[in-house]
Amino acid sequence: MAEIVSVCPASELPPGSVRIFEADGLDIGVFNVDGTLYAIEDRCSHDDGPLAEGELNAANCTVECPRHGAKFDLRTGKPLTLPAYEPVDVFPVHVDDNLIKVEVS
Ligand code: FES
Repeated sequence: MAEIVSVCPASELPPGSVRIFEADGLDIGVFNVDGTLYAIEDRCSHDDGPLAEGELNAANCTVECPRHGAKFDLRTGKPLTLPAYEPVDVFPVHVDDNLIKVEVS
């Protein structure tokens, strides 16, 4: 069953920023990409790199793993470049009462 986790007030996550949090034993990064929020597992599928600490490319809606450079689509969790070839988990995000909430399952 999904758990709804309150991450932070929406005003604390402006466009271009990320907030990393832990829930249910998972590290998750929430990105604000030009006003749209995406939540993605903070663990690269290649070699467990800290994915959400990587560089955000807002134009392409991707994040680049800081360890070996694989790029992932924030919308789907799918890798777009090697060396990663397995997707990472993504999670539904919404704003409720000015709080960013992530559905963790
Ligand atoms: S750990 Fe992310 S590309 Fe290797």
